[in-house]
This record gives sequence, C-alpha cells and structure tokens, in this order.
Amino acid sequence: MNDALSLLQPYPFEKLRGLLADVQPADKPRIALSIGEPKHPAPQFVADALSTNLQQLSVYPTTQGIPALREAMAAWCERRFGVPAGALDPARHVLPVNGTREALFAFTQAVVDRSADGLVLSPNPFYQIYEGAALLAGATPHYLPCRAENGFNPDFEAVPAQVWARCQILFLCSPGNPTGALVPLETLKKLIRLADEYDFVIAADECYSELYFDEGNPPPGLLTACAALGRLDFRRCVVFHSLSKRSNLPGLRSGFVAGDAEVLKGFLHYRTYHGCAMPVQTQLASIAAWNDEAHVSANRELYRAKFDAVLDILQPVLDVQRPDGGFYLWPRTPVDDLRFTRELFAQEHVAVVPGSYLSREIDGFSPGAGRVRMALVAPLAECVEAAGRIRAYLERL
Ligand SMILES: Cc1ncc(COP(=O)(O)O)c(C=O)c1O
Repeated sequence: MNDALSLLQPYPFEKLRGLLADVQPADKPRIALSIGEPKHPAPQFVADALSTNLQQLSVYPTTQGIPALREAMAAWCERRFGVPAGALDPARHVLPVNGTREALFAFTQAVVDRSADGLVLSPNPFYQIYEGAALLAGATPHYLPCRAENGFNPDFEAVPAQVWARCQILFLCSPGNPTGALVPLETLKKLIRLADEYDFVIAADECYSELYFDEGNPPPGLLTACAALGRLDFRRCVVFHSLSKRSNLPGLRSGFVAGDAEVLKGFLHYRTYHGCAMPVQTQLASIAAWNDEAHVSANRELYRAKFDAVLDILQPVLDVQRPDGGFYLWPRTPVDDLRFTRELFAQEHVAVVPGSYLSREIDGFSPGAGRVRMALVAPLAECVEAAGRIRAYLERL
C-alpha cells in the first residue's frame, strides 16, 4: 500500500462518531447540525433536464465535456464575477469536474512538483481534502491560522518569505468552511502579486460563493480580482465552483474549475488518465442550472430566514456572529468544544462538530478549539428548534 495513506487523519465525522459513541442522548428527535449537506429541494427543472436526457447513458462522455457546458460555465463566471465578456475561453479556461471535492484532490496531484520539497498552504481550520490531497501528492501541508481578530482569515502578512518560497499551491476557501469568512478583494489582489513573486498557484475554493446575505452585493472571487487587475490570462489563478450548495444539487456531482489555461492544460492531461468524465446527461442538467439565477436567489432567501431566526435565539446566550457567507455558524463555546458537543448531544440530542476536529494544532495553538461548527441546512422549523434546545443547554450551564 501507499505509505502516504498512513498520514491521513481520521475524517472529522469518524472522530465525532467516536466522541458520541458512549453518549446516551435525551429522548427527543435527533437534530443534526453536524453535516454540511444542503437539504433544500433540488430544482425541478434540473431534475427534468436530467431525466429527459437519459438516452445519453449510451455514450462515453469526454473529459473536457461538451462545448455547450463549458460555454455556460464561462458565461456564468463572466456575469457573476465581472470578467469582461469573451475573456474566458471555454476551450482553454474552463473544465467540468464532478464536484469540487474530487477536483481539489486531483488538482493537487496534477500541480505539485514532487521533486521540490514543496508546501501546500491552507487556512486552519480547513476543509479536510486540502490536507489529504497535499499529503498524497508528496507535499507538506502548511497551515495558516484563521483567528477571530483577523476576521477569521489567515494573516497573510505574517507568512515568512521562506514559506512563500516553498509554496506550490495556496488554498483559499471563500466564504470559508467552517468560518464563513470572505477573503477581501484587496487581499486577493495582494495574493496574486505574491503568487507572481514566488511562483505558486492560487486554488480558490469558492463552492459557497453563492450563499451570501446582501442580494445587491454578491461577494468577490479570485476572478473578480483578476478582472480588477486586468489579468485576463488568469495566470496562476484557478477557481473551483460547484452546483452542490448553489443549486442544492449535492447528488448531481457537478462543478467546474476555471482560470490559468496552462495549468488547466496539465490538469486536463492528468484527468484523462484519472478517468473522471462527467456523464452527458449530468452536463445537460448542469447547463440548465448554471443558466438560471432565480432558484439561487430563492435559495439564499431560505438561508437568510434561518440565520435571522437562529441568531435571534442564540446571540443573547452565545458568542456568535453572522458569517460573510455560506451556511455555517462558528460560535465560541463557553466550555471546551468536546465537552460542549457531548453535553449538547446528551441533553438535547443536537449534533454539532467540535472546532478542534476541523483544525490542526500548530505550536500549541489549535484555531478551532473552543468553537463548534453548526450547519443551518435543515428546514427553518428544525433549525429554530435546534437553536431553542442549544439555548436551553447554555442557560443550564
Ligand atoms: C469548503 C468545501 N469545498 C468543497 C466541498 C465539496 O463540495 P462538492 O464536491 O459537492 O462540490 C465542500 C463540501 O462540503 C466544502 O465544504
């Protein structure tokens, strides 16, 4: 077996199962705020597009996907991120992927130069794939703490030059999982300058980019920064997008990467061997989803109502803020996060994820410790019920 497999940590949900294994929960219906799986209904028109194209089951899809799909993705990026029309060439700047999870992993395998003792930088806490992908690609993960004092973003100014010099990929997650923090436009521009200076690739995981609160003010992404800098070759910049959260289609397995044509050429070459082409019926359903914004806006409205209601209940008793985007709350717990998680499960049958399971301890400091992640994915009434039970637990503490 591959030695590097032994470097992989147990997934946070495995750790959570262990933590709660001997806990006898109260006799109330279980509410899971632990899993970040969208629960709003999938759009019917996408399901229809999928089912009316099932005859495509008889064809092998290509890795690059059909031109109409890449055109829809490029056009969406241009509309959404202020990229000048025509700047993203669907043939060179866009590739379909089966969700961002496999793409983040595969991308790292394709980009890391194993001969160079490289680093893969990621926020800490972080989406676990960044770390596993780096380890299996033969690189060393390097974690950038996301502290509340810095708006839950890494302090990029504090990263030493010798770390940037070894950096091969910088992962960004904006809005972040679990913090909900957005990387500001000015920071993105500075990071692009650093990528040029030290020759690394920025991999911006923007799979939560469409879950924001101010309908009139969609948050910027890495492509917005490229457009603002007039960097229309998107050099060293690659973004990762997905229909999972935007369109409530986690089971469709559909997303894309867009950006630097040279990097994507290498990635396409890798993917040809990797064998992960998107089925044509999925591609056709995805076109329908990327071309429609009404369902995305309705989806945001559902999340907005849940954040409003839950924060009303929790803010008087818990140190918790509305995130910049995404569907998570990332409160500070008044007691140790493992204790909080166990007691809340025992007394109220509500599951959350301890923050320390989502971060790594570096030099004695774990940025997730003393926080928990709560995903507001369940229907409004269930989220309100969960918030009431969390409040009851906190009031008894
Ligand atoms: C930060 C982040 N990136 C990527 C993914 C993967 O999503 P998908 O593969 O469904 O696009 C997730 C899923 O929860 C996530 O939280």
